Amino acid sequence: MTGQKMAGTTSRGPKVNLTTSSPAETRRLGRLIGKQAAPGDVILLQGDLGAGKTCFTQGVARGLEIKGYVMSPTFVLVREHRDGRLPLFHLDLYRLDNLAELSDLGLDEYFYGPGISIVEWAEKGRGLLPQGHLMIKIEIAPDNVRNLTIEATDDKHRRIVQHLKNRLKNAGSKIAD
Ligand SMILES: Nc1ncnc2c1ncn2[C@@H]1O[C@H](COP(=O)(O)OP(=O)(O)OP(=O)(O)O)[C@@H](O)[C@H]1O
Ligand SMILES: [Mg+2]
Repeated sequence: MTGQKMAGTTSRGPKVNLTTSSPAETRRLGRLIGKQAAPGDVILLQGDLGAGKTCFTQGVARGLEIKGYVMSPTFVLVREHRDGRLPLFHLDLYRLDNLAELSDLGLDEYFYGPGISIVEWAEKGRGLLPQGHLMIKIEIAPDNVRNLTIEATDDKHRRIVQHLKNRLKNAGSKIAD
């Protein structure tokens, strides 16, 4: 049968694995992606508490030339930053109690508008988040190391993976400044 996945494969699109060794490096990776960001991009973040999702988002904000400090939207589900090259909608679903709360936010304005959206704890929004996105999974390893898997699920987002792959090809295993 065509299109059937083989047992054990979970990959859906082009993918790149990389490692950061400090918060500054994770922010740098975010900045690089922020510079590449285009209207309607959606970045979903998964990773345990303290993995570096907010740290990464701060880098994206810098890449979008947003001036203010980007902190985790802990007591609200979304923070909007509109003073950069593109609007940034930063969602954090950690405290989401039910999916109805999420649909009440009017998500389409974020996901299908002119800005870019980043969602921390994206696994909690399952079903309500766009199918086409960049998925970034962050795993905590010893000594401040973070292992990241970055995967595009549609054609719109694959350019970001391709850009990172090109950077890695030229700069070895690290994302250079
Ligand atoms: N390589 C690294 N990349 C990112 N953060 C790192 C790294 N090494 C250590 N850290 C530390 O890990 C923490 C990451 O915090 P951050 O708030 O970004 O995590 P988070 O994934 O957003 O957590 P939460 O789920 O609570 O929102 C910071 O204290 C940072 O200094
Ligand atoms: Mg956070």
